[in-house]
Amino acid sequence: MYKINCMNPIAQVGLEHFSDKYEITGEVKEAEGILVRSASMHEMELSEKLLGVARAGAGVNNIPLDKCAEHGVVVFNTPGANANGVKELVIAGMLLAARDVVGGIQWVKESRDNAEIAKAAEKEKKNFAGTEIMGKKLGVIGLGAIGVKVANAAVALDMEVYGYDPYLSVNAAWSLSRAVRHVTNVEDIYTQCDYITIHVPLMDATRGMINAEAIGKMKDGVILLNFARDLLAEEDDVLEGLKSGKIARYVSDFPNPTTAGQKGCIVIPHLGASTEESEENCAVMAVQELMDYLENGNIRNSVNYPACDMGVCTTAGRVAIYHRNTVNMITKFTAEFGEKGINISTMTNKSRGEVAYTMLDVEEKPTEEIIRALESIKGVFRARIVKG
Ligand code: MLT
Repeated sequence: MYKINCMNPIAQVGLEHFSDKYEITGEVKEAEGILVRSASMHEMELSEKLLGVARAGAGVNNIPLDKCAEHGVVVFNTPGANANGVKELVIAGMLLAARDVVGGIQWVKESRDNAEIAKAAEKEKKNFAGTEIMGKKLGVIGLGAIGVKVANAAVALDMEVYGYDPYLSVNAAWSLSRAVRHVTNVEDIYTQCDYITIHVPLMDATRGMINAEAIGKMKDGVILLNFARDLLAEEDDVLEGLKSGKIARYVSDFPNPTTAGQKGCIVIPHLGASTEESEENCAVMAVQELMDYLENGNIRNSVNYPACDMGVCTTAGRVAIYHRNTVNMITKFTAEFGEKGINISTMTNKSRGEVAYTMLDVEEKPTEEIIRALESIKGVFRARIVKG
């Protein structure tokens, strides 16, 4: 029986995918698997039992990826599962920035006791007038699952779309509308676009990328949209830009004391992926990834371990080894099995940066003794019997 802890509420449709080999526990220390949405795991102690964490969403900045890797804990996310939900809100964000819909609705609320409201509205509406997005230039920074959908939707709305992504995947390139102008220098987006939307993960390399220097290169009256993570922008610099008129509006999905209630900021309470469909898609994908990993050792959509798929084990046993990506490891692993007279029928070794993962299907049931021997090899974080 595998125990799973949900650190945030996870859509029931997803949890129903767990077979009767699984039990949901309220005790995180008991769990082999964790399902999480936005709860921070940075200060959390990782229990010896924990094998995998699945983030129901794309961003993983709430999870200590390196620490997990060194504890032999595989972290998964659900790329693309909420992309449509986020895309739709980005389009709404552009429209809210183009016209003062929010101000107009507020005026109607405040005027609710005015019997002449219809007449007053005709006078007042000039204060909430705006522009159309058709024909405007949109720059999309980051063409992953969400960025591609935003770019394509904007093309369909007759915007002129520029896309920037130095790591564009083949899949993303296939999905991207041919009308999107692919730029190789992000400055082209800064200098040419009327709307700029960011869709990159928060990492050291991207933290604060929208700063005074970048803003200085942008067109006067630019509209910035941030549905990725607030820390991608130096928001004090954004406020300065709003004050000077360089930035016309900042639309963010991440409320914080810097931007909440500030003039020119349209701040939404992290609703990008908060749709029934996105929550269900993420939950189902996270649960499937976790089950295939716990039961078969297979890794799909991990953000700290390499992908590895050996299907379902058909021999007497399967062992997974989590280790550093250094020389001679495979020789040492196979020697352990050789010394114990256990024949290896299939083996896969995959690496990702400093981390590697090896799975071996063997013709005898693996014992705790061989697991201890493998774990005593320098550079091994963990070994586990997947089947046997
Ligand atoms: C994401 O990173 O995909 C979103 O933040 C998901 C969420 O709202 O939980």
